[in-house]
Amino acid sequence: MDEIINRYRFGRFNAAELLSTDSTNEYLKRRAREGKANDGDAALALYQSAGKGRLGRSFFSPSDSGLYMSVFLKRKITPELSKFVTPAAAVAVALALEECGSEHAGIKWVNDIYISGKKVCGILTESKISSENMLDYLIIGIGVNIFPPEGGFPDDIKDKAGAAFPKKIPGMRIKLAEKILLNLDGIENSVKTRSFLDGYISRSILTGKKVYITYGGAKTEAEVIGIDGECRLVVKTADGVLSLNSGEATMN
Ligand code: BTN
Repeated sequence: MDEIINRYRFGRFNAAELLSTDSTNEYLKRRAREGKANDGDAALALYQSAGKGRLGRSFFSPSDSGLYMSVFLKRKITPELSKFVTPAAAVAVALALEECGSEHAGIKWVNDIYISGKKVCGILTESKISSENMLDYLIIGIGVNIFPPEGGFPDDIKDKAGAAFPKKIPGMRIKLAEKILLNLDGIENSVKTRSFLDGYISRSILTGKKVYITYGGAKTEAEVIGIDGECRLVVKTADGVLSLNSGEATMN
């Protein structure tokens, strides 16, 4: 585990490619605990044995078909701006996929990328708060199903998950990693100025749709009005209009 097989420099990022690891987010956290993680470090893995998703879920990470990558940002973003990091990263990934030739990449609030109606990417951002109540670091973990996995997707995700490209394209994994990292190069500025926001709003696949949200502990039907300047999902429910800071909206 954690054996480094290649190193890449893309923009300001120094990326170590690992043969396998439990989770690239966890790998960078271990490096941070050892005092060995620097701003702009990135980790890519060919395979993750314990890939993590949001809300305590696992992220299917087979060795033949995906990009599993995390980046480490040290003390660059204030706690108030941290809520914009995942949306800004989602726009960076959506653009990178299209730069690599994918079909239109939509974003499902908050952190999922959809192509042709299927989830092809999820983003998990984790942070450590320092003793002075500042953000010590942020780790942005990005998992992309680039190609259909050889054995197919597991039963529990096979209706929802898809691949960004229908067939294997040699060199695509590193090309996509490079494009994503180049697009993430200015993420601090992008969250400060909100330059990502128009792209985030225009790519929203939920706008105008009927969804279910979990609200007050119960599943509630809602209609999505859109996304506001704080990256909240604005929905109309039987109780009125709500602006959601976090959570999940499902289409069925
Ligand atoms: C989600 O869909 O809820 C988020 C998935 C995030 C997966 C990526 S893969 C690279 C990094 N390492 C992890 O363990 N998770 C993220």
